Order: sequence, then C-alpha cells, then structure tokens
Amino acid sequence: MKVRKPLVAGNWKMNGDIASNEQLFTALRAAPERVPAAQVEVVVCPPYPYLGQAAAWLGDTGVAWGAQDVSAHPNGAHTGEVSASMLADLGCRWVVIGHSERRQAGETDEQVAAKLARCAAHEIGVIACVGETLAEREAGATETVLARQLDAIASTLLAGGASAAPGRFVLAYEPVWAIGTGRTASPDTAQAAHRFLRERLAVRGYRESGYVRILYGGSVKANNAAALFAMPDVDGGLIGGASLVADEFLDICRAAALA
Ligand code: PGA
Repeated sequence: MKVRKPLVAGNWKMNGDIASNEQLFTALRAAPERVPAAQVEVVVCPPYPYLGQAAAWLGDTGVAWGAQDVSAHPNGAHTGEVSASMLADLGCRWVVIGHSERRQAGETDEQVAAKLARCAAHEIGVIACVGETLAEREAGATETVLARQLDAIASTLLAGGASAAPGRFVLAYEPVWAIGTGRTASPDTAQAAHRFLRERLAVRGYRESGYVRILYGGSVKANNAAALFAMPDVDGGLIGGASLVADEFLDICRAAALA
C-alpha cells in the first residue's frame, strides 16, 4: 500500500439527469462490496443542480461528493456563479478548480488561485488541475507550463488554511491532449510529470509535498488504470467519461485501492 491514500474522483461534466444519476448513485452506494473503502477515497462531482441529490444519496456512505467549479469571488453581483460559502452550506467537501475545460473558456491562473483561497476560507478540499496542450508538449514546454500553473497557486497554498493541508489539497495532472480523446498518457509520461510537480511543490516551499496526492486524468479506463496507478507518484485519478459508467468507474476505484 502507498504512503498516500489514493483518491479517485469522477468528473461528470455537464452530463446526467435525475434518473440516470439515480442509477449511478445506486451503484455507488453498493461500492463497498467491490471497493475496499479503507484503501481509497472516492469522490463524485455532478453538475451543481444535482449536488443536493448527491448529498441525499451519498450522505450516509463513504463516497464523498464535490462541485466541478466555484466562483473566485466571495459573494456579490456575479450572476450565475456559485460561491464557496454556498457550497460549504450544502455540506460540499470537494471542489475541482482549474480544469482545462474552464481554462479554455478563459479562466486564468490568477482566478484559479483566488478559487483556492475561497475554498480554503470555507475548509473545502480542492482538486487543482494542471496540464499542457499538445502544442505545448510538442514544443518541449510541458515543464514550463506545469511550473507556471503550479507557481500561480503556490503562494495561496503556502498562506495556509484547511484546503492547503496535504489531505485536502489534491493536484491533478491532466494533459489536455489526453482528455476525452482516448489517448492516455503512458505510465512513464504521467510519472515524469507527477514527479516534476511534486518536486516543484517542494521547491516552492510546500513542506508536505511528499503527502500531496497527485491524480492523473485523461482517458483513464478500467483497462489502463492499474498500470497508471502503479507508478510511484500517481496517487489515483480524475475520471471523466468513464465515471459515467458505474462498472467502469468502480473498477477504476478498485484498481486504485489495490495499487
Ligand atoms: P476523460 O476526462 O476521463 O473523459 O478523459 C478527464 C477529465 O476531464 O477530468
């Protein structure tokens, strides 16, 4: 078993409805039969309107639920946005920030840092995503991009708060070219990026870098999960498409538990 307890998070993106969610929640409630809960932390992130449904179905299970995004602002005139305090009110324990789909829609490094600060103020754990595009990788700029994205949140992280504790601050390496494309990073490619990120955290003065879970995300499936999770610095996964298929998702969680 690894020093760091693996975490697998399902990012449902803008998918689902009440009926299909119910099927997934029913399967997740039965997860303990297939997934040794003591050995993996499982989180699912449905769209905002279904967080109440997630709370109702999962509240008494070991499966946690979270949001896919949060406002960078504490409150005020931000039509359509949802604040960290509102999520905390609902009992939300996790938020994904900096997903590449949000970055592509215009989210900046500074906004990701502000979101981390908002979550920290309300003791919400964060899954902070970083990752390079295909053009950046091909230009040999992967480490430059990862360093820039990580450095942007490093000072907020060092400022502390509950979301900065190693159990509550989770990084996700998600190469943009691997998301939803079926083109998974090889275990060695993922490991190299994860190692770089962990070392960078240490260089930036984050003393508990050895305890931070770094998830891999990008076309993780049941048939490639075990090889990825076997790498020493890969501590679980952020799962998109495969998190919408109960059997597939539970098999991925199981692979993380057994890694
Ligand atoms: P994918 O998405 O598993 O469908 O590639 C991962 C993600 O975007 O978090």
